[in-house]
This record gives sequence, C-alpha cells and structure tokens, in this order.
Amino acid sequence: MPILKGKDILHGNQFTKKDVETILKVASEFEKELKKKDSLSLLKGKILATLFFEPSTRTRLSFEAAMQRLGGGVISMGSVESSSVAKGETLADTARTVAQYADVIVLRHPRLGSAKEAADAVPIPVINAGDGAGQHPTQALLDVYTILKEVGSLKDLTISLVGDLKYGRTVHALVELLSLFNARIYLVSPNLLRMPEEIVSGLKGKGIEVIETEDMAEAVKASSVLYMTRIQKERFTDLSEYERVKGSFILNEAFLNNLKKKIIILHPLPRVDEIHTDVDAYPGAAYFRQMRNGVFVRMALLAMVFGKR
Ligand code: NCD
Repeated sequence: MPILKGKDILHGNQFTKKDVETILKVASEFEKELKKKDSLSLLKGKILATLFFEPSTRTRLSFEAAMQRLGGGVISMGSVESSSVAKGETLADTARTVAQYADVIVLRHPRLGSAKEAADAVPIPVINAGDGAGQHPTQALLDVYTILKEVGSLKDLTISLVGDLKYGRTVHALVELLSLFNARIYLVSPNLLRMPEEIVSGLKGKGIEVIETEDMAEAVKASSVLYMTRIQKERFTDLSEYERVKGSFILNEAFLNNLKKKIIILHPLPRVDEIHTDVDAYPGAAYFRQMRNGVFVRMALLAMVFGKR
C-alpha cells in the first residue's frame, strides 16, 4: 500500500517510524539513480505548482529540481505582487485556482496553519514548505536523511538544537521525527526563544529525554550532531527583543577546536552570523551536503504522493 499516495504533507507528526524509514530508503534509491542519469520519466505529464508567499532559495528550487528530475513539469507563481493576491484574493481561492492547473501544490506562507487551510480547500495534495512559525516537514525529512548519511544510523542519537527554537519551524518539525527514533535532545536557546512548551511536553510525554539549557558547550560535548538555526528576525513583533537575542550563539573554529572531538554540523540555511565561515572547511560541516540531499528527499516525496513508490 503506497503510504503517501494522494496525501497532503503538513506536519512532522503525521509520519510513523516506518513511514520515515520508507521515505529515506526511496530518497537513497533516487540519489543512486541520479548518479547514473540526469533525469527519470516517472512523473511525466504531472505538474507541480510552487506557491511561495515568503522568501525561499533552497526549498523552492530543490522542489522544482526534484520534479524536473522525475520528468514532471513545474509552474510557479511569481511574486505575491505580480499575482491576484495583490488584489486581495484569499489563500483558499488562490489554492483553488492553482488546483485547476497543477496536480500538486507546494506552499510557503507566513501564517500558522495556512498549509492546512489550503489543503482543505483543494482536492489535490498540498505540501507544506513552511507555515509561519509552524512546521516545515520536508526540511525535517531531509535533515534526518542527512543525519543518517553522515552518522550512519538514527539510533541512540544525542543531538543539540541551537538558536531560535521558538519561531524556527524546521526544529518544530524535526523534533517530531527525532522522537520516533528515541533521540536525546538538547534544546539550546536564549530564554526568550525557548521551544514552545506544548512541543516540549509532547516530547516528554512520549518518553523522550529533553534537556533545556543555555550552555551550548555543555550540550555539544554530549552530542554527536549539532543543528544550528537562524534567529527568525521576521517573526519578531518587537524588534528590540531581536536586538537583545541576536548573535546569542555563534559557532566558529575556535569553539570546535576546544571541543576536541568530531561533530556533525547541520543548518537548514540561510545562515546570518551563527556559523562563521571558518567552520565551512571542517569535515563535519554537513550543511552544504544537507541542501543537496533536499533534492533526493523531495523526489521521494513527490514520487510517493503520486503513488509511484
Ligand atoms: C528555513 C525556513 O524557511 O524555515 N529555511 C529553509 O527552508 N531551508 C530556515 C530559515 O529560514 O532560517
């Protein structure tokens, strides 16, 4: 039974452990196939629409690349200003329109819950590429794919998530997946940007060991993976609060030298100042490999949504 056929992808909590393992396996098959040829014809004739109401580089382009590598086509709403959204069209109406032209929608929108709203309005699958400070499930899947490749296993993982855990939608989705694999999770953030309480209690309720701290060095010493995040400036209602927390946690070569062990470093990107460029040459710096993995994981998700895997 194809697990994602015809389904929306909205939230990190919608997957079972088995689902995640299947998705990662399919992604790895596509990674191997792309070594042999540039593109496949699995989704020939299908059309993906990307609808981005917020800035994006990796997510939109890797979805578009994934669809084209699978032999499908892509249509894309240009900027919000150049579409009827500028005339006041609602998200539901925009989604209904796009559903007349495409077979799957990838949506990014600043409003929490927007992906679910769009999904409820249309009969075709909607993939959440970020709903405000909510969720970003496809990023979380490519994050665990990267961890699996870099570490070799998702079992008995200790991981530090550092930075903006309040507004960061990538970490909100990632902890859902990590909880399926029983990870120990250090949450490192300024007090102002702690992981929402309902997420933390949800993790603890599942028996996950969660340690909240502001001591990045202590957390990283105990971890094999370090997941850095950007402070989400655009989500602050009070910019003076942003000024207070910006630059809170910075990873640089000196920090890694003090650590005296190798660690795998991930970041969903874009980075601002939280990872110094002197870290880029470090062997465990996996964030550029991580963004390449986005193509394979998104190929897997698209193929599976169309019931082709
Ligand atoms: C993230 C996002 O948009 O939530 N970027 C991404 O999709 N790779 C993280 C961020 O913007 O900081």
